[in-house]
Amino acid sequence: MIAVLFGPPGAGKGTQAVALAELLGVPHVATGDIFRRHLKGGTALGQRARAYMDAGQLVPVELVWDLVAARLEEPDCLAGVLFDGFPRSIRQAELLVEWLGQRGRTVAHVISLELADEVIVRRLAGRRVCLTCGASYHVDVNAPADGRCLACGGEIVQREDDREDVVRARLLTYHRETAPVLAYFSALGVVRPVDGDRPIQEVTLAIRAAVSGS
Ligand code: AP5
Repeated sequence: MIAVLFGPPGAGKGTQAVALAELLGVPHVATGDIFRRHLKGGTALGQRARAYMDAGQLVPVELVWDLVAARLEEPDCLAGVLFDGFPRSIRQAELLVEWLGQRGRTVAHVISLELADEVIVRRLAGRRVCLTCGASYHVDVNAPADGRCLACGGEIVQREDDREDVVRARLLTYHRETAPVLAYFSALGVVRPVDGDRPIQEVTLAIRAAVSGS
């Protein structure tokens, strides 16, 4: 099962991905998390990605696709994958669909989390993430008072690209380059729209219903 959690920055993709990956029985592959691990590790790839991420732009497609193609070849991905933050351009979508087609496979679900830009700006200003495991919290919803991750005890911080100016740049990039991907997948009949502007548990239930067809 190949599924995609799709939506603008701050839509709740990372928040919903853990439960959905468990439900589908496939690994969660988030390209943003992979780039942040490279940044933290000081790798050459991380150095190249940094300028794009800091400016709220897409990392060039060749860097993204090499990572994704290598990940898809790993044994735990043979039965499927839940993508989060990929594909986010028409070219990335074409590369994925071509790669799958050569293996007789298709994308089963594109779960599209929908919400307004102003909700996103508020959400991302209050987001805090665990430096160790990447778990995501919000200061108004569920951030632990002691500043330590509920899952692993790691330190909780604000992401560098969650400053308002960078968030607005990410939104522009989303509308210009990523939103058209939805029309590409709509033509394949696999888009499942979900209202993302509801409490976390309600969104989780709506996603479950969308992928089970009820
Ligand atoms: P990436 O890490 O993918 O960032 P993003 O898509 O901008 O998504 P976010 O992680 O910001 O948001 P999310 O939807 O996961 O929301 P979350 O669940 O955390 O990419 C970062 C950068 O890497 C990109 O800008 C680009 O430069 C590069 N990159 C990555 N992939 C790439 C690719 N394929 N190609 C090229 N470049 C790429 O939730 C947000 C907040 O809201 C949290 O605080 C959360 O607690 C809260 N929240 C969640 N759900 C709810 C709810 N229902 N109600 C209230 N609050 C909620």
